[in-house]
Amino acid sequence: MKIAIGSDHGGYSLKQALIPFLQGRDIEVADAGTHSADSVDYPDFGEAVALLVAHGEVDAGIVICGTGIGISISANKVPGIRAALVTSPQMAELAKQHNNANILALGGRILSSETAEACVAAWLDAAFEGDRHQRRLDKITALEKKICP
Ligand code: RB5
Repeated sequence: MKIAIGSDHGGYSLKQALIPFLQGRDIEVADAGTHSADSVDYPDFGEAVALLVAHGEVDAGIVICGTGIGISISANKVPGIRAALVTSPQMAELAKQHNNANILALGGRILSSETAEACVAAWLDAAFEGDRHQRRLDKITALEKKICP
């Protein structure tokens, strides 16, 4: 499995903590930056990770900014992306089970690295439940096509 991870400066230290955590689970990590704690703009990194996921170059993505809000909004502008901002392992598990989230969004100034790791693990270990949830995702895809045909 290959995961792209990206953050702004607000998510940089959590990104650096999550990379070895992912590698420890035998996951190949594509680090889309940022590469220091210097101030940058979160849309650039939300876009980079979202495009890697949308183009099928990785299996899934993780995006991190200070709150996770701005970078999840950015990633969700890319058609086919379902980026879920979560603050607990339960939300992360449901984001996969019900929403088949292909990007997990986290707040580097909100979560401890332990909670963030538990969220990532819950999301990776969960399975999409399909059925009525697929019907709802199909409606999201139809909405994308209505807005950007
Ligand atoms: C950057 O200071 C901060 O605004 C950003 O990391 C994020 O929290 C935005 O949603």
